[in-house]
Amino acid sequence: MTSAPIGVFDSGYGGLTILSEIRKRLPQYDYIYLGDNARSPYGTRSFDVIRGFTHEAVEYLFSEGCPLVILACNTASAKALRELQQHYLPYTSDPTRRILGIIRPTVEAISSFTQTGHVGVVATPGTVSSGSYTTEVGKLFPEVRVSEQACPMWVPLVEYGESQGDGADYFVRKYITELMAKDPEIDTVLLACTHYPLLRSKIKEALPPTVSLIAQGELVATSLADYLLRHPEMKQRLSRGGQVSYRTTECPEKFEELASIFMGTNVDAIRVKIDKG
Ligand code: DGL
Repeated sequence: MTSAPIGVFDSGYGGLTILSEIRKRLPQYDYIYLGDNARSPYGTRSFDVIRGFTHEAVEYLFSEGCPLVILACNTASAKALRELQQHYLPYTSDPTRRILGIIRPTVEAISSFTQTGHVGVVATPGTVSSGSYTTEVGKLFPEVRVSEQACPMWVPLVEYGESQGDGADYFVRKYITELMAKDPEIDTVLLACTHYPLLRSKIKEALPPTVSLIAQGELVATSLADYLLRHPEMKQRLSRGGQVSYRTTECPEKFEELASIFMGTNVDAIRVKIDKG
């Protein structure tokens, strides 16, 4: 049996915040990171478009041999995960095409953070319109009240390298003020977009000091480690060299510059074509 890397996919740079936590937890494996930067952001696009793009990305990673693909993107997880999992169901007896999302592992952990039972979720318009967080939290913790806030300007600020600029302050305050007006009892805010940890310090400043801010990276990494413990048949298909291959659908030089900031280390990337058009 040949062994291969774990695929990690996001519309752009955001999934790197998940990849870096996964690598802290599971440094022994190899990874292919794919950012569809040429078509990012996804969060403001329609359901069909997000689903089509995500399908192409997943197909690409499978064609590169990845037996397991993590959708390190809430928007893609919300809009495309279920349908993709059904699409690849015929492979159930041959575990070479598994796709995991990041909403469920995040929701499973949420009740351990809130004291008041009032949680705020900040996410892309696509994730918010899917209602996935409210639905999933409602299933597991019906006593928890969820208020969701779409933040359409935050991903572009990160993708264009403006997360530390003055423009970011304005849009961070705007959406946080709107969120807290929905439910002043919120004591926990979840960053339900993998790009948002890059705005973390500004979001923290905009929130009342008593409110805690939760990012998904560690939660997803813990959940993946647990998945591999429960699935030795997948674990044995994964190659162990501790390497990451970075792929982008945009100009690699641009990707390398921003990705190196995200990862805190030098990143070499190659450009790939994933669209079937
Ligand atoms: N990082 C993605 C997420 O977690 C969204 C980015 C985008 O809108 O493309 O939802």
